Amino acid sequence: MPSHTGATRFAVVGYGYWGSKHVRVLSSIPDVEVTVVDAQPDRLAEAAAHYPAARLADRLSDVLPDVDAVVIATPPASHARLTARVLEHDRHVLVEKPLTTSVEDAEMLIELAAERDATFMVGHTFEYNPAVWKLKDLVQSSTLGRVLYVDTERLSLGRYQNDVNVLWDLAPHDISIVSYVLDDVPTPTAVWPQCFAGGGQADVAYLQLEFPRSETRAFVHVSWLSPNKVRRVTVVGEKKMAVYDDLSDTERIRVYDAGVDAREIDGPGDAHALPVSYRTGDIVSPYIAFQEPLLLQDQHFVDCVRTGRPPRTPSSRGLEVVRVLAATDTATAGRSLQATGNVAGPPDPLPRGHHLYRRATVTGTTSRS
Ligand SMILES: NC(=O)c1ccc[n+]([C@@H]2O[C@H](COP(=O)([O-])OP(=O)(O)OC[C@H]3O[C@@H](n4cnc5c(N)ncnc54)[C@H](O)[C@@H]3O)[C@@H](O)[C@H]2O)c1
Repeated sequence: MPSHTGATRFAVVGYGYWGSKHVRVLSSIPDVEVTVVDAQPDRLAEAAAHYPAARLADRLSDVLPDVDAVVIATPPASHARLTARVLEHDRHVLVEKPLTTSVEDAEMLIELAAERDATFMVGHTFEYNPAVWKLKDLVQSSTLGRVLYVDTERLSLGRYQNDVNVLWDLAPHDISIVSYVLDDVPTPTAVWPQCFAGGGQADVAYLQLEFPRSETRAFVHVSWLSPNKVRRVTVVGEKKMAVYDDLSDTERIRVYDAGVDAREIDGPGDAHALPVSYRTGDIVSPYIAFQEPLLLQDQHFVDCVRTGRPPRTPSSRGLEVVRVLAATDTATAGRSLQATGNVAGPPDPLPRGHHLYRRATVTGTTSRS
């Protein structure tokens, strides 16, 4: 139900690093009214300084009667509780990644949203990124040929989180990007989580995913403990290779006309020949008309709330990502980092085809001196 001014009314819960960006983009959309909710008075004071017209509140329950929809941008462990409150009030909701911190919670909320006929969307922002759309075009049009593997790197001296490890914090982006580009649902097959600094959470991790329909694999590397900021996805195809560098201003996507072909070894005279021959050609950087992904995502949420259209990133896609992450927890919990002295051992095999509905944290972590 719109306000008496005809505007659609949104509350953004959490005016932190990311929630403040939601407030900025929502405030730029015509006929949208924004209420900022944050439990910390200094965050509300900052919101008031930037958005004098915005309503402010320190509790979600105080604003629910007066809004049409809510964006949840609080730390992940609070997502399920806040989202349940929104849905119980028959309001639409967009929840930041990761949707929840357990499979059970995500399933319960999806059921509740269906009962309440509410729009329930997940903030997989990269699926609204024009460079990721281009990468998907390159894969789906077979420009790259059969995809041999995908490699992703999301590294920096990152913000350590209190409630989740680096996989839950950063890997949702890569799992969502690769699933979207391949149009497939992954199964996690191995994980190498490590805790090097304090805080008791894994801060560096490698994750291997299998994509059954595409018959390909992805290798995800995430880190809060790396000197250089890297945000890169490499898709290696049989014909060509593509690199998506999210930090490049001018060449976010590069397509390399490069690859290798297996060679026939002709006989003993050929014994020292390389087993492959190389192909190298042009490197092309297609033009991408860039628009801010968060604006595109939130504009889409506004449209869904106004029209009742189903979102492009429904909560079920958030659940797919949570399933992968929950499976990594199972492996993480079963692995004694103390026993291995923080040295990466062989990959932890993950259970295939079933998921354990349990949230666990990294055990036995040590700090490096
Ligand atoms: N899509 C993306 O690209 C992207 C990028 C960064 C973060 N995120 C996600 O956004 C969410 C928030 O991350 P952040 O980095 O902004 O965190 P943050 O710690 O900077 O901010 C969280 C804010 O929420 C407030 N808060 C916490 N619990 C609250 C409650 N119950 N009621 C009201 N306010 C509450 C805190 O006071 C704080 O201001 C996380 O889920 C994170 O994964 C998404």
